[in-house]
Amino acid sequence: MTRSFHASHSNPIPSLRTLLTAILILGLGQATLAHADGDDGAPPDVAYRQKVMSNIGSNMGAIGDILKNGLMLPGAIAVHANLMAESAQLIGPAFKKNVTTKMTDAKPEIWEDWAKFEKVIADFEKAARDMEAAAKGGDMAAIGGAAKALGKSCGGCHKPFRKPKEESYHRMSHDEHDH
Ligand code: HEC
Repeated sequence: MTRSFHASHSNPIPSLRTLLTAILILGLGQATLAHADGDDGAPPDVAYRQKVMSNIGSNMGAIGDILKNGLMLPGAIAVHANLMAESAQLIGPAFKKNVTTKMTDAKPEIWEDWAKFEKVIADFEKAARDMEAAAKGGDMAAIGGAAKALGKSCGGCHKPFRKPKEESYHRMSHDEHDH
């Protein structure tokens, strides 16, 4: 009796604390992002689509880390590839609304040639599925080839639809410190 009373009483305390910590971290995270974006921060639509893209970038980076360093993480590449393939369906809706601002690297060509934008999304999704299949197959040569093709599919969209590094808003916000 005493034990279960204690158990039910002590459990909610750490979980509440965890929740509060999570809220605090989220709040701080938002403040940090708002600050990084400058006075006229990225509009919510732009911030969202950049997060969708960041996630894809993180999964790609994780696969790169595993392959380059030979990390022993069985099954991980297939999961990262699957997450990227799933993310493909988020891209269209994320960019559908034509929102341009100086805090974006999206080129106006996206909204001028939406059909082509959808085509390169499909190419990317296929490359991610091929990567997942190769990872499950376990053949290193096939995995390497699929990783290369997947990387190429990023360029297939970035080249026509994303501003080059020299024009990136990332760089512009850094340059402001130099002036
Ligand atoms: C269908 C088009 C498309 C595909 C496919 C695509 N990207 Fe992008 N990506 C974009 C666009 C457009 C932007 C710029 C978004 C903005 O600034 O509003 C972007 C931005 C990014 C960013 C910067 C996000 C930020 O925080 O500003 C990263 C990282 C990124 N992409 C990684 C990748 C990787 C890695 C792949 C392939 C595995 C990939 N992308 C595939 C269109 C694409």
